[in-house]
Amino acid sequence: MDAFVYIEEGVIIGDRVKIRAFTFIPTGVLIEDDVFIGPHVTFINDKYPRVGREWKLLKTIVKKGASIGAGSVILPVTIGKNSLIGAGSVVTKDIPDKVLAQGNPAKIIRRL
Ligand SMILES: CC(C)(COP(=O)(O)OP(=O)(O)OC[C@H]1O[C@@H](n2cnc3c(N)ncnc32)[C@H](O)[C@@H]1OP(=O)(O)O)[C@@H](O)C(=O)NCCC(=O)NCCS
Repeated sequence: MDAFVYIEEGVIIGDRVKIRAFTFIPTGVLIEDDVFIGPHVTFINDKYPRVGREWKLLKTIVKKGASIGAGSVILPVTIGKNSLIGAGSVVTKDIPDKVLAQGNPAKIIRRL
């Protein structure tokens, strides 16, 4: 894991995971084995953030072998096994296994 990766309490990270610099991983994120997370990736666990109010913790799963491109923003979703998220994407919906998805909002471009 590179420097300046911020990981909050309760995050689970599998084996052989590579996390590049300046990535933010809050509580509620589960990262399975063999995942690559590029630099400056931001995960989100609260869809309606407000100061000083109750909030709902939302969960994200990144499945085995998936890769997330640099600078992507990952809303609370599941990213499927061996899928690839293009750089600079905003992922708002679940991504199935073994696809390339990219853009804002991220769309499936093709199967891998
Ligand atoms: C998404 C990705 C895999 C596509 O690679 P590719 O299949 O070789 O695609 P190309 O470079 O041939 O581009 C194909 C089209 O997709 C567009 N495109 C490429 N990457 C894109 C991205 N991240 N988001 C949106 N569009 C993208 C290109 O502009 C091009 O558009 P066009 O057809 O209108 O000309 C790659 O660009 C990418 O973002 N990889 C992640 C890399 C990364 O973050 N690594 C981290 C380590 S530093």
